[in-house]
Amino acid sequence: MKICIFGCGYVGLSAAVSLCKMGHSVYCIDKNDYRISNIEKGILDIYEPELSEGIIENIKQNKLSFSAKFKIQNDTDIFMITVNTPNNGKGEADISNVKDVLSQIIPSITKYSVIIIKSTVPVGSTKALFEEYKNKTSVNFDLVFNPEFLSQGSALYNFMHPQRIVIGSKSQRAIDIVKELYKSIDSKYIITDENSSELIKYASNSFLAVKISFINEIANLANATGCNIEDIKKGLEADERIGKHFLNAGIGYGGSCLPKDTSAIINMADKLKVDLNTIKAARITNENQKRRFISNIMKFYNYNIAGKVFAIWGLSFKPNTGDLREAPSNTIIDALTRYGANIKAYDPKAVNNAVKQLTSKEEALSEANALIVCTEWDEFKNPDFEFISNNLKDKVIFDARNIYINQDLSKFNLKYYCIGRLYE
Ligand code: UGA
Repeated sequence: MKICIFGCGYVGLSAAVSLCKMGHSVYCIDKNDYRISNIEKGILDIYEPELSEGIIENIKQNKLSFSAKFKIQNDTDIFMITVNTPNNGKGEADISNVKDVLSQIIPSITKYSVIIIKSTVPVGSTKALFEEYKNKTSVNFDLVFNPEFLSQGSALYNFMHPQRIVIGSKSQRAIDIVKELYKSIDSKYIITDENSSELIKYASNSFLAVKISFINEIANLANATGCNIEDIKKGLEADERIGKHFLNAGIGYGGSCLPKDTSAIINMADKLKVDLNTIKAARITNENQKRRFISNIMKFYNYNIAGKVFAIWGLSFKPNTGDLREAPSNTIIDALTRYGANIKAYDPKAVNNAVKQLTSKEEALSEANALIVCTEWDEFKNPDFEFISNNLKDKVIFDARNIYINQDLSKFNLKYYCIGRLYE
């Protein structure tokens, strides 16, 4: 099939490379011509494993092309919208980018077309957009909501191995075409109406947020009662009803999706006078979790960190991405610098221009008082603790991701603070 994708962010590009892998031919449009000319050279403004290699390979094989100008290719089977729908500042998702794209597609189509919205849009948007645009062309088209569940850092794998494909449409003709698109993938289909498919997306991300906040609260209690959250986690995940994923206690969730989507679903519900107290609580816990971590550092230093140097390992909101959006490291760095501390940071991919960033994790330790681990990149998991101990003036590690929770660091003369386990 021939697919036209609008929006070259991480969803659009991951979809493009994956669809090529499935044997389709794809052309991508993004209004940012600087971004497009870089993408064509394999230079991306995001880091996603194997993505730039996939782009270059598929361009070479003539399966993939890019343009900053929209020109419809006649034999296009499916249009796919993957533009961002950011928070508009009031907690709502701003869908104006989706509308801009539809305004380009609709007047240009000359034959029946299927337009897939993958961007996360508020419940009711797909139907409302169809009503808004249906009279702007004499040609038939269907607007389908087909949410994306890929996760940054494993986006290509997730696209090729989805745990479900949700299709929100009432048109059997459109449903059949979307199924044809994914026919080489082995997955469960959930076919539903447009509104339900939109809510599935918000409910999924909200549930993950709730799960993370839940385990973080239990971890805080474990800490206060002298328990070990790792053992508690084992006890929970053995119950299949609870499941083993998203039970890693830490400093709270970040990224572009969980914070934005929990805010948007609450906003939608509030307007309808429906209480989403659980999701609201998850958001509060998430904010408190960051403050709690900062306050533990402050407590260690008797509330005086002026002039102290903190080595920070990991800036991105999670490993295998360079994305700093809503990364807990931002909050920690803001707080520590506000109280007069200096930061020496290292991240394998993320770049934060607001801090002094070093090119290795070892360099970041030099002259530092303490180490803070903000992201659980693999390269931080088995460090040379002797080296860390010799370098840190105050011989203390604050581990926001519990990656050393099962190690005995006292034998390296290191003090250790994590989330959900008390060390004497
Ligand atoms: C999330 C969802 O997981 C995807 O399914 C969804 O498609 C995507 O949003 C989206 O809407 O586009 P993503 O934002 O890439 O994916 O990241 P997650 O893997 O969900 O992690 C979010 C945050 O939660 C990270 O900061 C991570 O460190 C944190 N987290 C995750 C925990 O603190 N504990 C855990 O057990 C898991």
